[in-house]
Amino acid sequence: MSKGKVDALLGIVFGDEGKGKVVDVFTPKYDIVARFAGGPNAGHTIIFEGKKFVLRSIPSGIFAEDKVNIIGNGCVIAPDLFMAEARELEAAGYDLRSRLHISKRAHLILPTHRVLDRAYEAAKGKNKVGTTGKGIGPTYSEKASRTGLRVGDILDGFETKYKTLKARHEEILRNLNYTDYDITNEEKLWMEGVEYMRSFPLTDTEIEINKALREGKSVLAEGAQGTMLDIDHGTYPFVSSSSTVCGGVCTGLGVAPNSIGEVFGIFKAYSTRVGSGPFPVELFDETGDKIREIGHEYGAVTGRNRRCGWVDLVALRYAIMVNGVTQLIMMKSDVLDTFPTIKVCVAYEKDGVRTTDMPFDTEGWQAVYEELPGWQTELTKMTSEAEFPQAFRNYVKYLEQQLETPITILSVGPDRAQTIVR
Ligand code: GDP
Ligand code: IMO
Ligand code: MG
Repeated sequence: MSKGKVDALLGIVFGDEGKGKVVDVFTPKYDIVARFAGGPNAGHTIIFEGKKFVLRSIPSGIFAEDKVNIIGNGCVIAPDLFMAEARELEAAGYDLRSRLHISKRAHLILPTHRVLDRAYEAAKGKNKVGTTGKGIGPTYSEKASRTGLRVGDILDGFETKYKTLKARHEEILRNLNYTDYDITNEEKLWMEGVEYMRSFPLTDTEIEINKALREGKSVLAEGAQGTMLDIDHGTYPFVSSSSTVCGGVCTGLGVAPNSIGEVFGIFKAYSTRVGSGPFPVELFDETGDKIREIGHEYGAVTGRNRRCGWVDLVALRYAIMVNGVTQLIMMKSDVLDTFPTIKVCVAYEKDGVRTTDMPFDTEGWQAVYEELPGWQTELTKMTSEAEFPQAFRNYVKYLEQQLETPITILSVGPDRAQTIVR
């Protein structure tokens, strides 16, 4: 934790690395936890004291009663889904209204944005992105084309603004011949969600955060998605539509680059990807199935099978570079407990050409592997590094050497308690 600074915790692969779990573990050390990008396409799982929560738009710092949580200007928010998520937390006894602040500059996901998401995907034929269907792409596109609606808009003359934008969407949908949809019920809930959101502090969160920083307070920026899904640095066009990288923290919260402190890069002891797009380390065999089964690699938002493979050093090195990662956090080490050997992708190869740099397009590249012995020991009950088997230590050391970055936290199970700080 750095006083007067924003530390960033970023997924550095294809998302679902375990960001929610670690943000929850880190929160007691920080004054403010803030989401800076994405929306309900995220699914962040937090498990403690026999309880499990999956958060979509609300930051994972919400379980520590005295901390301010912020949904920053770089996020997109669906009022109906936000209401459902917040009500679930309220029903579980968490008081949100005084300490969950929403940026007036965050963009609103309309029901028709979700229809557009489906319509654009349908029109793509074989090249579907495999989106979460939450309207993310259309909402960010509209932000960039300067026609979107923002949270602050619900405070003044909202009805007219909403109707105008909805009519525009309906026209686009008619032009796409995508008319078989009915948002009547969805829209009712959405409007209810807008009313509900009005009872939360809708603020200029960038001013609030900067004031806190000047007072020497500490902020944790919670990433969503991962670097390989970043709009600029991911496997375009098979990406999400926001800046998921460290630069996105600055634009998505309104903080200066020199206010960034530590950059925690979080990854799993293996790789997963959900949705379409190139994935050189993907395993189509029973090893891949075994990783999926043991790691419960099914999407937290859509329930889809996550594609599984070995850890990818080409992707990790690239992500460490573009984010300026200062510390690594390795999750789900326990999932590999039973494997006799562990592979690591050290390079990509295509048409006799080998590279360790991330290519412009990862389609068609084959992974080149090195193999390490597995530890074949259960890690889940271990509480300190001293208990780790030698083969696991060797795996960690190998990754640190290859990535030239220290791995300072190791996670050995989904529970808050199964986290080992080195
Ligand atoms: P996020 O989107 O980055 O927050 O990650 P998700 O919540 O989508 O996916 C991570 C999944 O792995 C969740 O089901 C977590 O409960 C689980 N998880 C997190 N850390 C560990 C770990 O160290 N071991 C195991 N077995 N599961 C973990
Ligand atoms: P968290 O925060 C994993 C993927 C989708 C799809 C692509 C674009 O839980 O790590 P979108 O709906 O954003 O337009 O979909 O990005 N995707 C994620 N994959 N974890 C996520 O979030 C994701 N958010 C989006 O599957 O391939
Ligand atoms: Mg997730």
